[in-house]
Amino acid sequence: MKVLVATEKPFASIAVEGIRKEIENVGFEFELLEKYQEKADLLRAVADADALIVRSDKVDGEVFNAAKNLKIVVRAGAGYDNIDLVSATEHGVSVQNTPGQNSNAVAELVFGMAIMAVRNMYSGTSGTELKSKRLGIHAFGQVGRNVARIAKGFGMDVSALDPYCPDSVMEEAGVTPIHSLDKLYSENEVVSLHIPATSETKGSVGYELLTKMPKGGLLINTARKEVIDEDGLLKALEERPDLKYVADVKPDNAGLLEEKFSGRVFFTPKKTGAQTAEANINAGIAAACQCVDFLLNGTDKFRVNK
Ligand code: 3PG
Repeated sequence: MKVLVATEKPFASIAVEGIRKEIENVGFEFELLEKYQEKADLLRAVADADALIVRSDKVDGEVFNAAKNLKIVVRAGAGYDNIDLVSATEHGVSVQNTPGQNSNAVAELVFGMAIMAVRNMYSGTSGTELKSKRLGIHAFGQVGRNVARIAKGFGMDVSALDPYCPDSVMEEAGVTPIHSLDKLYSENEVVSLHIPATSETKGSVGYELLTKMPKGGLLINTARKEVIDEDGLLKALEERPDLKYVADVKPDNAGLLEEKFSGRVFFTPKKTGAQTAEANINAGIAAACQCVDFLLNGTDKFRVNK
């Protein structure tokens, strides 16, 4: 059995060695394809793979067609919007993710970006503090819960909206449940986005919600660029000079936003939320173990396709 790790954005080398060990310990073959530039490289490498481990790498119908032996794809991370689930099912391939494994890393980056924004992008001008600010967490999954834990340490007043999460889970974490989007955005000076990119959420955060934010509002997006309505964001930033937007990965109109709203926007050049040795080890080794357990025992616990 051959397990291919194909990561355009590489894991830390210590994580790669951990993955290799898990694969080779059971007598499977390990292959590594890092920093590939062309899809053709992935298509070639996957041709005889039984299992594939990826990050945000695009796994579409063409990849499944090229991978005649493929039985499982594990997205080492949370969001699997980069994988064509319908095509996977048509090809009889199990798709799994590794929920929670990189969530602390992403949550810590939220605060790195929050502090940068409230300190005016470290320009040396007088900024503000996070203490006593109201933070609204948009989706209370694994990352949202870590954000809440850290926010408490900063002395923030934390609330969250998540129709899929019982109020009691939020209350146990000292978080006030909110049941409407309008309220989440109108009542919080800082909103942190943690919704996945789905057909319902894509383009769902834009002008209407942003202009509801209180004076000095800050939107932090460490989720996906696709959940933002970029025209609406541009209009909101134009009309409300007090608003700021910081995101882990550039929006499509990044150049325009940076030019028009210098000092009020910041974008990481490459998605960096899960880019820590710890998160790479956690997610990468979990992915390797899931591949092994699936190939040896058929374990499908983290399957996300039907
Ligand atoms: C995730 O969904 O797990 C994060 O967005 C991390 O993505 P990455 O593995 O490409 O850094």
